Amino acid sequence: MEKLFGKKNTAVLISGRGSNLKSLIKYSKTKRSLIRIVLVVSNNCSAKGLDYANKSKINNVFIKYSNRKSFEDRLLKLLKRNHVDLICLAGFMKILSGSFIKKYVRPILNIHPSLLPKYKGLNTHKKAIQNKDKYSGATVHIVNEKLDSGKIIIQKKVKILKSDSEKTLEKKVLKIEHKIYPKAINRLLTSD
Ligand code: GRF
Repeated sequence: MEKLFGKKNTAVLISGRGSNLKSLIKYSKTKRSLIRIVLVVSNNCSAKGLDYANKSKINNVFIKYSNRKSFEDRLLKLLKRNHVDLICLAGFMKILSGSFIKKYVRPILNIHPSLLPKYKGLNTHKKAIQNKDKYSGATVHIVNEKLDSGKIIIQKKVKILKSDSEKTLEKKVLKIEHKIYPKAINRLLTSD
């Protein structure tokens, strides 16, 4: 496929549901989009997100995660072959190694369902509710070698109501995730 002038070739890495992938695909088809999704990679062969890639005829690949090295070697080859300029992690449940991040010198973004630096890692909604936080939210940040710790590109809050459960909070946060990921990409790519 020929490279679209001005748009960054983007790979999206997923592990499951793929609702953020779906929103990124939608965004990539808009006029304001600065990306073109050329590759979707999943470490899970039955990830629902792969259906969205198929529906939009985006090249998608399942890479078995036998161990980190073999996964990352294969991934690097695919990224090179597809001239990928930007990686977006979207519900990708594996941690990329420091050596991978060094080898792939371009930006890697991640979306995380909390107001970082609060609640890195898993179970963010459960923690926010247990701690009776007034707000939660989502963060898009650059990936570095420390988990959920890279430079924050965008963050948005949602109010936690007394009536909220983990499920309802997740739903509310996910809704804003779908809005801020495209915004963060535009912000990142126009700030160079
Ligand atoms: C999202 O909450 C995202 O912030 C987190 O994993 C979840 C993935 O959801 N990293 P989906 O697969 O994009 O629907």
